Amino acid sequence: MIYMDAAATAPAHQQVLDTISPLLTHDFGNPSSRHELGRNAERAVSWARNTVANELGVGEHEIYFTSGGTEADNLAVIGAALAAPRERKIITSAIEHPAVQDAAAFLAEHHGFTHELIPVDHEGVVDLAAAERLIDAKTAVVSVMAVNNEVGTIQPIAQLGRLARAAGAFMHTDAVQAAGWLDLSDLTPHVDALSISGHKIGALKAPGCSTTLPTTRSCRCCTAVASSAGCVRGPKTRPARRDRPAANRARTTRGRGRGGLRPLPD
Ligand SMILES: Cc1ncc(COP(=O)(O)O)c(C=O)c1O
Repeated sequence: MIYMDAAATAPAHQQVLDTISPLLTHDFGNPSSRHELGRNAERAVSWARNTVANELGVGEHEIYFTSGGTEADNLAVIGAALAAPRERKIITSAIEHPAVQDAAAFLAEHHGFTHELIPVDHEGVVDLAAAERLIDAKTAVVSVMAVNNEVGTIQPIAQLGRLARAAGAFMHTDAVQAAGWLDLSDLTPHVDALSISGHKIGALKAPGCSTTLPTTRSCRCCTAVASSAGCVRGPKTRPARRDRPAANRARTTRGRGRGGLRPLPD
């Protein structure tokens, strides 16, 4: 079989395997433990956090590791929406991944939000004039993907971020298909939260992350992330099978990674 779907998932990069292997076998400690094994693991987690933060051009404290892109999207969208004081409108593009679209549907069904869609043109680019009409003072969250997972269209995140900021809304971008192709640090100045997924760019099946940026809104999002985790896991709101973490779903692998990993410090 010739596998040509690296946008769905990719094999782990050899450097990832070499780096992680001793941490899964020899230095397998719990990073919260205070003994030597635990401290070694804590050092490895903080190195990973630092590496991701540098790549995104944000601070280490702004990285939240998740099980994958779906969970990162869920946390950012649901968390920011539930933390919004009064605004009750979620705006996404018409072509978001289900990880975002279903989170918005969940908010509409269970929390009284309205969900409005920004249309796209024949190339899949969001209609900025329509976005300008839709994004207003009632908007809690705007979530538009940086790169589309079906046709690869790059969205005007900087312009959308400006519209969201002007309306006082939280701006999230699903950058799962941008990682490895675009410089993510060009995107982070324009958004309040950005999601990526490790297993599509050579990491293991499971790690993803969400970042919030150092605006006054980041405190709102921290609170939100904690509360939304409960919502997503609650019995009445159990996500559909396709929305569960990648570790439960991914079946095939292939590589595309960008650049090399820096060695773990001694
Ligand atoms: C744009 C986009 N967002 C989110 C996801 C979900 O990521 P994960 O498979 O890590 O849950 C995908 C996966 O294909 C995707 O393409």
